[in-house]
Amino acid sequence: MVKLSVSSLVAGAALAAALPSYLTSLTGLSPRSPNSGQITARATGGKVTNKNLARFDNSNIEDGVGNGTDWYHLYLGNGSVAAGWPSKDKWVSFESMFENYKLQMYVACQYLNWRLPNNDIDEVQAIWDGIQTASDATGVDHRLILAIIMQESHGCVRVNTTDLGVRNPGVMQNHNGKASCNDNKKLTTPCPAATIHEMIREGTAGTTSGDGLAHCINLSGNGDVSDYYRAARIYNSGSLSKTGNLQSNIATHCYASDIANRLTGWVYAPSACTCDDDPKSCGVSNN
Ligand SMILES: *[C@@H]1O[C@H](CO)[C@@H](O)[C@H](O)[C@H]1NC(C)=O
Ligand SMILES: *[C@@H]1O[C@H](CO)[C@@H](O)[C@H](O)[C@H]1NC(C)=O
Ligand SMILES: *[C@@H]1O[C@H](CO)[C@@H](O)[C@H](O)[C@H]1NC(C)=O
Ligand SMILES: *[C@@H]1O[C@H](CO)[C@@H](O)[C@H](O)[C@H]1NC(C)=O
Repeated sequence: MVKLSVSSLVAGAALAAALPSYLTSLTGLSPRSPNSGQITARATGGKVTNKNLARFDNSNIEDGVGNGTDWYHLYLGNGSVAAGWPSKDKWVSFESMFENYKLQMYVACQYLNWRLPNNDIDEVQAIWDGIQTASDATGVDHRLILAIIMQESHGCVRVNTTDLGVRNPGVMQNHNGKASCNDNKKLTTPCPAATIHEMIREGTAGTTSGDGLAHCINLSGNGDVSDYYRAARIYNSGSLSKTGNLQSNIATHCYASDIANRLTGWVYAPSACTCDDDPKSCGVSNN
């Protein structure tokens, strides 16, 4: 468990006051597919079943290549190393990844569309603790959980509950979970640690009405690193495209590529993903 230092908080606040323009691109939430609501009831205690992928001990926080490289490479295709997607030995370390995203976590709420009160130091600590607890319980690698949190909410614990047919509350904008610090236009400040832990548990282990990341990894079922990228597509869309290409299917076409980049060190570099603005440029198919 890492205790965040007050000096890092102050540094974050100072930087936030003079925010560079790249952070203004943190404009909000990725659309989720309403179809992800059509799945029948799920057990809530999801676990990764494949032994090659399940990781129930996430105590090693220096478990990757460190910071990786802050750049964006557009990944297209089926998520396999053969198709050019990163192998797991290219992934950053959890500790470095969290450290590098921390500033975004501190300013995320004000940069979401709704100018919400920013996270405080205890709330950011609760994100760390919630990830570690959820990963140990489910076997989902802690770095994937962090990548999904940054993708869905940039870590803003008071992120709005969105509803495009299915309620998506919390930092992982999970499937109709209970935990939220901004439901029905009611903000909770500070957001209790137990609530933050629950948001992350629901996004990772599932809710009574929808899959968590563990189920998405199981559904992918290849038994190699592609399962993480495919799980990201399933988490966003509710299913994989028939084509097998992760830019395809409904919802956010850049989603799986973004996750692969986050896992290899992308933090501030401009995105090179054109698949949402110009789906044809990526050969996107909507089914
Ligand atoms: C793994 O996920 C699949 C697909 O959602 C699910 O049927 C199964 O119960 C899960 N296994 C565990 C142990 O969570
Ligand atoms: C990651 O980057 C930070 C800040 O630039 C640096 O202090 C740290 O040593 C780097 N970590 C590794 C493992 O390279
Ligand atoms: C994934 O794509 C790669 C490269 O296009 C191809 O070689 C491989 O056979 C595909 N894997 C599957 C399971 O379709
Ligand atoms: C987001 O949450 C804030 C605070 O609860 C609320 O004022 C605002 O209307 C919400 N925005 C949307 C689009 O729901």
